[in-house]
Amino acid sequence: MDSGAWLLFLVVVAVSTSGHIHSEAILRLPSESEEISRDYCDSWMLAVETNNAGTWNRVPASCVDFVAEYITGDRYRRDCDVIRNLSAAFAKSVGLAGDGRDAWVFDVDETLLSNVPYYQGVGFGSEIFNETSFDNWVDLAAAPALPAILSLYNELKELGFKIFFLTGRSEFQRNATETNLLLSGYRDWERLILRGSSDQGKPATTYKSEKRAELENEGYRIHGNSGDQWSDLWGYAVSARSFKLPNPMYYIP
Ligand SMILES: *[C@@H]1O[C@H](CO)[C@@H](O)[C@H](O)[C@H]1NC(C)=O
Ligand SMILES: *[C@@H]1O[C@H](CO)[C@@H](O)[C@H](O)[C@H]1NC(C)=O
Ligand SMILES: *[C@@H]1O[C@H](CO)[C@@H](O)[C@H](O)[C@H]1NC(C)=O
Repeated sequence: MDSGAWLLFLVVVAVSTSGHIHSEAILRLPSESEEISRDYCDSWMLAVETNNAGTWNRVPASCVDFVAEYITGDRYRRDCDVIRNLSAAFAKSVGLAGDGRDAWVFDVDETLLSNVPYYQGVGFGSEIFNETSFDNWVDLAAAPALPAILSLYNELKELGFKIFFLTGRSEFQRNATETNLLLSGYRDWERLILRGSSDQGKPATTYKSEKRAELENEGYRIHGNSGDQWSDLWGYAVSARSFKLPNPMYYIP
């Protein structure tokens, strides 16, 4: 039972034992306020996903339960499955040149790998980001794959795409990141690109655009790009199609 159902249960018990309470008014209140909060958080998340929310730095306190339920539940999994299928349908429609230059780019965090086990311990994004504790988590190399994306990755490889991983993580995290990717099931990617010393401090949009432009200069055609942040997807040297995965836990400009 969730907290609303418990409250309803207790109120019903109180009503049926006392007989003095005006049941309707009391019975409706908890579920109504819960619904208002749920509706608001649903709309807030849509605004986040469409980037109408712009830059934000923590999940509103009233939406922590909503985000927790979403990101640990079936809905997130289904949303990712739909995106997986749309991505695969597009990939199949691409006429690959067969010269080994047809590319797809993936972000790492909340795309290839899920950090939900970490965010569970820090209020699902309701606390300000703590780089030290996140880096400690990265060192554990324990993030599971997003099942939908692992499946898409394998399908793209079979179709013949060259796959590039482009992450905001830094070079010092290369080993932990590669170890984690292997442990969670990824194999035979073309290249893992991390922030080098000259990339530190750049906004993600700038850094990722620069790296994609370098790939284009090497002759790669970037057909698809999958990421949970708008900064993974826009800027310049953008892919023919971009696929935005949901992430209501944090925003990276
Ligand atoms: C995705 O595609 C697979 C294979 O065609 C299908 O079984 C599955 O139902 C689809 N899932 C969604 C959420 O569209
Ligand atoms: C950030 O995380 C580290 C390591 O867990 C911890 O020692 C530190 O107190 C945290 N900082 C804040 C501001 O919570
Ligand atoms: C690579 O990373 C893993 C996971 O963090 C760690 O267990 C291992 O010791 C690291 N290896 C090297 C050579 O640093």
